[in-house]
Amino acid sequence: MKKIESRKKDHIDLVLKKGAQYSKSTGLDHVDFVHNALPEMSLEAVNLSTTFFGKSLKFPVIVTAMTGGYKDAKAINRKLAACAQKCGFGLGLGSQRAMIENPTLTSTYVVRDAAPDVPIISNIGAFQLKRYSIDQLESLVSSVKADGLAIHLNPLQEIVQMEGDTDFSGILDAISKVCASLSVPVIVKETGAGLNQEVAIKLKDAGVKYLDVAGAGGTSWSKVEYMRSTAIPGFEEWGIPTMDSIIQCRGILPLVASGGIRTGIDGAKSIALGADMCGAAYPFIKAIKAGNLDTFAETFQKQMAICAYLTGSKTLSDLKKAKLFIH
Ligand SMILES: Cc1cc2nc3c(=O)[nH]c(=O)nc-3n(C[C@H](O)[C@H](O)[C@H](O)COP(=O)(O)O)c2cc1C
Repeated sequence: MKKIESRKKDHIDLVLKKGAQYSKSTGLDHVDFVHNALPEMSLEAVNLSTTFFGKSLKFPVIVTAMTGGYKDAKAINRKLAACAQKCGFGLGLGSQRAMIENPTLTSTYVVRDAAPDVPIISNIGAFQLKRYSIDQLESLVSSVKADGLAIHLNPLQEIVQMEGDTDFSGILDAISKVCASLSVPVIVKETGAGLNQEVAIKLKDAGVKYLDVAGAGGTSWSKVEYMRSTAIPGFEEWGIPTMDSIIQCRGILPLVASGGIRTGIDGAKSIALGADMCGAAYPFIKAIKAGNLDTFAETFQKQMAICAYLTGSKTLSDLKKAKLFIH
């Protein structure tokens, strides 16, 4: 198995082991909804539907980028796609670098037939933009019939990775060129260390259309990489907690809150804090492993709907205005 393929497989195995999550919290445990004892509506009246990359979502949720590029990834992506279609969630594919390097791996990412109606987002690391042409990126998107491209920023992960890239100069310019030329909109996401306000504004100015904070408090990519390498220790807990990252980035571009979102209640809180949608990776792969993906996803939806009900919020825009206590 080639290097990238075996790394993608290792990532799933390591993330599912104990110890790949941050010890510090997202901050969302310090947030409580102001309970509304008189919601004056029924639970059935809750409708949190929205649009994302021009397609409808029943719930403001995306399964964020995880996998592709090795044999078993195909079954994982197909399970995630079927779940996303059933629940009306968006779906992020894992980094497609492996399929650029080896086109025979393309089929491990192809899931449009299993999720015909929901947004599917392609994925590539920002560092790869320096290597690949717009035509290569265009074919990466079209070969999986994606609605957009996610560019991931992961300088922390790269710095602790055995074979990591450690020169992020010129990345903003490369992102801006992609935004100007690609036929689909671009979302920029972190991978668990969070985005700050300055970065969010620079990305908006570069032509990016959506942001995903992917803050700290969930999967720690430095911890994952430390399990594979002996890089300089001490960065296990590095990163902007998801709650702080949402507060930094809200109001700049349509915002996805992810990183340590583990329940629909976390997701609803992140929206009331200023995000437009929420996203998660680890709990979905964990649920696949446990064989309870559909139950997990349905519970997540119900939790979001109940948060809306108990705050008297009928729609997503009502939920965004729901009052919070921050302790
Ligand atoms: C197994 C696994 C593989 C991942 N691979 C990618 C990837 O290829 N591209 C990417 O942008 N993010 C990747 N991520 C990062 C997630 O999309 C997400 O930003 C991060 O894990 C924080 O969310 P979480 O705490 O819900 O896991 C991966 C996450 C997991 C758990």
